[in-house]
Amino acid sequence: MMTNSINNCSVINLRKIENAKGNLTPVENAVDIPFSVERVYYLYDVPGGETRGGHAHKILEQFIVAVAGSFDVILDDGINRKTIKLNRSSYGLYVPKMIWREIVNFSTGAICLVLASEKYDEKEYIRNFDEFQKIRQMN
Ligand code: TYD
Repeated sequence: MMTNSINNCSVINLRKIENAKGNLTPVENAVDIPFSVERVYYLYDVPGGETRGGHAHKILEQFIVAVAGSFDVILDDGINRKTIKLNRSSYGLYVPKMIWREIVNFSTGAICLVLASEKYDEKEYIRNFDEFQKIRQMN
């Protein structure tokens, strides 16, 4: 039985340390997110109408934050699909392994911060949706 469904994807509210000089949000391994961060990357200068993502990961977990602007994350477990809008720096979306995701509707100036549990390894990507669905059905 494949463990992860889109119900295992969760919006996590982060701490927000506010003062007159501005806000600060920390993210600590195992405290704020359920994995240890091995890599950070960010998407920015995304042209309007562009789609990012369009893949699943065999082992990698990630946490996605709209640190500026907004975008929508489409999640698919091979059976069900849902869309989560991210538009605040003070929360993010946890995506476990074996979930298909697409990121769409980037606002102008949006920055998509991704905290990932693994270093970059193209071999653990599934970039073809039919292949993803076949693997899901086998498990
Ligand atoms: P890609 O996975 O297609 O971006 P996204 O799915 O977020 O739209 O990655 C674009 C390119 O960047 C691709 O050639 C792989 C490379 N890349 C790295 O070299 N290191 C990384 O950490 C990531 C995320 C991508």
